[in-house]
Amino acid sequence: MEHATMGEAVLRARNVVRTFSTPGGEVHAVAGIDLSVQSGELLVVRGASGAGKTTLLNLLGGLDRPTSGEIMIGEQALGGLDEDALAALRRDNVGFIFQAFGLVPVLSAAENVELPLRIARLAPAERDARVAEALELVGLGAHREQRPGELSGGQQQRVGIARAIVSRPRILIADEPTGQLDSRTAAQIMDLLVALTHTRGLAAIVSTHDPLLVARADRVIDIHDGRLRPPADGPGPADGPDSADRTDAAEPGEPETRRSRRLARDMEGEPRS
Ligand SMILES: Nc1ncnc2c1ncn2[C@@H]1O[C@H](COP(=O)(O)OP(=O)(O)OP(=O)(O)O)[C@@H](O)[C@H]1O
Ligand SMILES: [Mg+2]
Repeated sequence: MEHATMGEAVLRARNVVRTFSTPGGEVHAVAGIDLSVQSGELLVVRGASGAGKTTLLNLLGGLDRPTSGEIMIGEQALGGLDEDALAALRRDNVGFIFQAFGLVPVLSAAENVELPLRIARLAPAERDARVAEALELVGLGAHREQRPGELSGGQQQRVGIARAIVSRPRILIADEPTGQLDSRTAAQIMDLLVALTHTRGLAAIVSTHDPLLVARADRVIDIHDGRLRPPADGPGPADGPDSADRTDAAEPGEPETRRSRRLARDMEGEPRS
């Protein structure tokens, strides 16, 4: 798909609600959110553990469907699409980056990056060119034959980023992408995400607890009990929620597990470890 023009709203959510039924009752994980993200903009979604960040990101990326409300990618409303059409829209428009990197251990960096292109059935020559370009963009041109276990955490996440952008999506969704990295590496990864967002006109949505990342965002939204709350501008008591967030230990793996069921559909027929 063509890249959107800079400043165009490529992702919109209108009064989006996601309610889960659990044995303990209904959980209003996302309770009515309006949002619009433009090309060339990196939006950080901040909030305490359980605030609804992952649920919101999954909805925005078309990995989950809202209980009510509407999400639009470009001019396409997701609500009317069947599962296959939704998977195709994801494949063409959305790159996902995960906290735990989500790489296939037995594949090299280049093969991991190539996976989405194989799924999209691109011709081998085009795949090779795109993989090389994506690995260069993330600074891993010299590491293409190494497997994830032979790369540092930061390098692994660079592979994850290369894989997310190799299909030239309009939208980048990153759920706590630096949650497993030390602060220096996290800052480098965030700088890379910002640079890619700006130079390639992506609309990026990044959830994080990390103040270093928040500082690099074009825009920050705070989510609390599934709702947006007014941004906490400037110093003062409004900074309270942010410092509270930092004490929340993220739970690596758990949201990934939920999401991987849907992502498995996108990976159908691909090599397994
Ligand atoms: N599949 C599900 N079934 C039932 N409840 C769910 C489900 N997914 C999320 N929830 C609930 O929805 C709320 C929001 O969860 P979510 O994972 O979106 O939070 P989060 O902001 O990403 O938290 P964290 O920072 O810990 O990753 C939580 O109360 C969670 O228990
Ligand atoms: Mg989460």
